[in-house]
Amino acid sequence: MRRRPFARTLSAALALLAAGVVAPLAAPVPAAADGVVIGGRPVQASEHPWVVALASRDRFGGTRAGQFCGGAVVGTRTVLTAAHCLSREVLGVPLNEVSDLRIIAGRGDLRAAGGREVAVQGVWTNAEYDSFTNAGDVAVLTLARPLPASAVIPMAGPDDAAYEPGMTASVFGWGDTTGAGNYARTLRAARVKVLPDGICEEAYPGSADGTYLAGPMLCAGELSGGRDACQGDSGGPLVARGRLIGLVSWGSGCGEAGSPGVYTRISDVVPRVADLMRVAGATARE
Ligand code: ARG
Repeated sequence: MRRRPFARTLSAALALLAAGVVAPLAAPVPAAADGVVIGGRPVQASEHPWVVALASRDRFGGTRAGQFCGGAVVGTRTVLTAAHCLSREVLGVPLNEVSDLRIIAGRGDLRAAGGREVAVQGVWTNAEYDSFTNAGDVAVLTLARPLPASAVIPMAGPDDAAYEPGMTASVFGWGDTTGAGNYARTLRAARVKVLPDGICEEAYPGSADGTYLAGPMLCAGELSGGRDACQGDSGGPLVARGRLIGLVSWGSGCGEAGSPGVYTRISDVVPRVADLMRVAGATARE
């Protein structure tokens, strides 16, 4: 089965790490390793306060604070992530058996203290998420305590110019920086371009990895490869013009020419997220 090998590899590797079976980050490091995120650079969490780590020490061990996916803060108590991050395939157990699911905000270095860890109080996973195409790869987390309003990033609506092909965007995460299982310790970002849907339609007409669908998905990367998200970055933000346009979802390999990154298109989920936030807001005020 070739479906989502990254996530599976990640949880398996981290489970082994947690069990003390293998040395941390013992995988061979290809030369010129520098990624998110592939081809990225280290960035300060304080300058990008809407990037959070999704973590469970129970499931993934304490070495990297339990980080296994990313997320984006779109409301003081609302974080978006990828639906597949909460799948049994990634977690190793059903979501309701994970008792310490939390987000880590304002902490770039996963081995440092600082920032805050906030428990996830509620999870809405998109029931329409299709694990074959990967369409609808979004989940909405409700936090037990609010983050500062200054941490919130606006979601780009459907007519936003930030989605235009050629637009420069940045993707953020603590994921694999080489494609060989070298998970970052500190937050990184890579600059990519929004690509025309046709590029991803051609790259991903339908395979075990997924099928590119222009409505719910967004294509971004570099035509020549080199800069991309990778395993462990899933659910993390893709940002252009100061607005959230995508969530890391899937791709074939990482940073390879002809295989761009595929993101959940934020404009496709804005109405549902706004509804959920209204409901959560109403509950919070009761
Ligand atoms: N599915 C991966 C994860 O769970 C993200 C893969 C993104 N891949 C890419 N080439 N952009 O972390």
